[in-house]
Amino acid sequence: MDSVFEILRGEHRRILEAADLALQVASRLERGETVPTGTLSALSNFFSYAVHRNHRDKEDTLLFPRLQDKGLKQGAGCVSALMTEHQEGAEAFARMLAAAEAYEYGDRDAIRAWIDGARRYAAMLASHIGQEEQVLFAEAERLLTPADQQELSDALADAEGRARFVGIDEVLEDLERVRQTLTATQLPRR
Ligand SMILES: [Fe+2]
Ligand SMILES: [Fe+2]
Repeated sequence: MDSVFEILRGEHRRILEAADLALQVASRLERGETVPTGTLSALSNFFSYAVHRNHRDKEDTLLFPRLQDKGLKQGAGCVSALMTEHQEGAEAFARMLAAAEAYEYGDRDAIRAWIDGARRYAAMLASHIGQEEQVLFAEAERLLTPADQQELSDALADAEGRARFVGIDEVLEDLERVRQTLTATQLPRR
């Protein structure tokens, strides 16, 4: 079984790939190109399930409380600052989601709000994940004993099982379909 930090770093990679895809979509929409039907909703579903339910739950309810119990010191990358960023990320995502829904219901002007929202959200994700990996995980690896890490990775596996129950596999498949269609329809850069 992967270690707790391998699991979380793997999820981070997947989240950053989706954020990168959102940035590509934003650039294409800004150039006036169309994107395949369902692109914005596939991205919204991914961020909604994979980030704000699955990954965030693992950190908020499993990793962070355990680190606080272990006496993680306040400072750069501290848990309370990261939890505040989770909340700010959720608010930024909610604005992007509202714009995506308005656009899909026919409000063409909402696309500007989505483009700006996607760029802001992708930047927040990159900064937050960088902070977690470079500061928090390094400290956590030092603080948590092998037994703590084993217990946590078991708990993460249980959480993953619950996420599969609510349909994360379909969300990932949809996003992969969108990624492939976008790649296949990529216009040559001038
Ligand atoms: Fe986080
Ligand atoms: Fe994270």
